[in-house]
Amino acid sequence: RITVLRADEILDSRARPTLSVTVGLAGGAVGHAGVPSGTSLGRREAVELRDHDPTRFLGQGVSLAISHVNGEIADALHGRDFTDQASLDQALIDLDGTPDMSRLGANALIGVSMAVARAAAARWGRPLWEYLAPESVTPALPVPHFTVVDGGLHAANPLDLQGFMIAPFGARNMTQAVRAGAEIYGRLGRHLAGAEGSHGVARLGDEGGFAPDLSGPEEILRLLVRTIHEAGYQPGRDGVAIALDVAADAIRRPDGRYLVNGEKLTSEDLIARYRQITADFPVYSIEDPLAEDDRTGWAQLTRELGGRVRLVGDDLFATNPALIGRAVDEGIANAAVIKPNQVGTVTEALRAIAVCRHAGYGAMVAHRSGETEDTFIADLAVGSGCGLFKAGAPARGERVAKYNRLTHIACRHSELDYGPGQ
Ligand code: PGA
Repeated sequence: RITVLRADEILDSRARPTLSVTVGLAGGAVGHAGVPSGTSLGRREAVELRDHDPTRFLGQGVSLAISHVNGEIADALHGRDFTDQASLDQALIDLDGTPDMSRLGANALIGVSMAVARAAAARWGRPLWEYLAPESVTPALPVPHFTVVDGGLHAANPLDLQGFMIAPFGARNMTQAVRAGAEIYGRLGRHLAGAEGSHGVARLGDEGGFAPDLSGPEEILRLLVRTIHEAGYQPGRDGVAIALDVAADAIRRPDGRYLVNGEKLTSEDLIARYRQITADFPVYSIEDPLAEDDRTGWAQLTRELGGRVRLVGDDLFATNPALIGRAVDEGIANAAVIKPNQVGTVTEALRAIAVCRHAGYGAMVAHRSGETEDTFIADLAVGSGCGLFKAGAPARGERVAKYNRLTHIACRHSELDYGPGQ
């Protein structure tokens, strides 16, 4: 039974306000949650409620969403008993009553959903990842994807692509994976600051990756391959693979072309570029390679590269189980990013992962560019056994908190396997 529900306004990693939600249950169990926030937003994401009052936090305040938690949502949930997370989340969806959660705010709803899950796990006396694990699934430690270079909307450098990640597939366990990530990140920082000249290495992007004054994707890929080698690892799926996050909606111009490093590319040109990049470099995965409404391009790309490259939909799916299901039918993409705040409840995020699993699609549980110290997504990745995880660089507190949570889980639960799973 819910006895306490309250929200407060805290800061995220970009100095913007967000919600901290606390839930108390009869018997004393308590759960907290910090709500993340994105920049490169999919058009189909559930709506994050902001105050738009220019006199507070540059219009970014969330006092309205907080008043919804402390008022209407608390009134509706107070004293109620929920048998499981799904029924609580359904009550939140029903209470909001809109298809995009724009009335009460997806930031309000996901905060409550996450905090209730934590409180329920505490009452049960088990770790959060165990509470989140669906019955038919074997929990496992995911392969972390560390952002080492930031660009696009996440950084003030000339790089059009949003993120370059390294993924230690060949690591034997989480401890080794984290070590590989930190060693390569550290070495890359030295390169960017040292012999390569000063490429603005002191500057980091929103995800904690370096934001060098470089613009050519191939130039960065060459440097990454060299750095992985020098750090003593094998570039590629047997060692440390490279993953891209293009966030193609942000580089799409009104005429439908994509702007990459000063060049205007058609969808076909960009697909040709990906063909070349994935042949020349150990790039095993590309997230949002094309814009969310470029479905013809997506289908062509999936036909051409889907057999050997992970093509991950983020803005394309907005963690929405129905949108993933539709893409499966159309033969678009072969993996989805899972960001619980895009869809507004924990249950919907778990459903999205289940849809991926049944379709043979990969699922990558992920952070947002605006994060708090909350580590919920680490537990979600382990409990759902999704196999793939990204939380930014192995640096900056709000990112490191998630990786450290994975390390803690790994150290305490040697029964959990490490790896990408399906
Ligand atoms: P976003 O990006 O939170 O700005 O959408 C984060 C990511 O996809 O890594």
